[in-house]
Amino acid sequence: MGRVQNKVVIITGGSTGIGQAACHLLSKEGATIALVDINDSAGKETVKYIQDHGGNAEYWNMDVTDESTIEKVFKEIEQKFSRINVLVNNAGFIGSNKPTHEMSETEWDKVMNINAKGTFFCTKHVIPYLKKSDGGSIINISSIHGLIGSPDYPANHASKGAIRLMSKTDAMIYAKDKIRVNSIHPGYINTPNLGESPQKSNASPTDPRTAFDNLQPLGHIGDANDIAYGILYLASDESKFVTASELVIDGGIYGGRVFD
Ligand SMILES: NC(=O)c1ccc[n+]([C@@H]2O[C@H](COP(=O)([O-])OP(=O)(O)OC[C@H]3O[C@@H](n4cnc5c(N)ncnc54)[C@H](O)[C@@H]3O)[C@@H](O)[C@H]2O)c1
Repeated sequence: MGRVQNKVVIITGGSTGIGQAACHLLSKEGATIALVDINDSAGKETVKYIQDHGGNAEYWNMDVTDESTIEKVFKEIEQKFSRINVLVNNAGFIGSNKPTHEMSETEWDKVMNINAKGTFFCTKHVIPYLKKSDGGSIINISSIHGLIGSPDYPANHASKGAIRLMSKTDAMIYAKDKIRVNSIHPGYINTPNLGESPQKSNASPTDPRTAFDNLQPLGHIGDANDIAYGILYLASDESKFVTASELVIDGGIYGGRVFD
């Protein structure tokens, strides 16, 4: 019996990085995976890998900024798997690393639309299905930069702060429906979305990986599975008394306030 046996889990942005690791891990623990992304080739490969290893998964092309497609795809997922139990709002885009006064409206809107509005749209359209399933779990991937500032990526950090508070508000609104809503706050994780090394690093700028590693109290950045295990816990019934919480998985950066 897996830790999320028989749960139907939608993972946005599951084609690569943290989302892909979550697809693999939750599938190994018995979940049926609905992988939604705009990266079709990597998404289909991820699904094939899961199916080849005895898991149950399907891929849908779904842009989290396109509300009508989300509505249509969630309906198809419910028709295919007969229920929906968990939504992982993971799709994200870090955007340009420019100071606020150099950022265009277009650059700002793209990041806010994918990260914040995408989380809103997917939450909005999954709620009726979770109510039908007599409850469920929504897991929103924020960032340590939804908790503390740093001198870079202003739109990304604003969107991650918004996701943190959306999670708490939705947790309060839907507690009576037995729908739990929590945010996860990753530190620096080795994925395609990692971004440039923080300005406060004292390592060589020509070696960004070392610069990142040196910034971590634990001495190295995280990998996608470190976050996937947090997603697994919040998706499972092991966390049945956990809602409106913030799960920080960051190698100690937030606890040590490295950016203070
Ligand atoms: N990597 C890190 O250090 C780090 C730190 C904090 C937070 N995060 C967050 O973790 C989440 C996953 O990021 P990752 O590091 O795995 O990066 P990633 O780039 O590997 O994954 C992001 C995924 O989202 C998908 N995506 C992008 N725009 C989309 C859209 N409009 N609709 C649907 N899918 C879309 C991409 O195709 C990709 O598969 C993001 O929300 C990111 O902000 C990452």
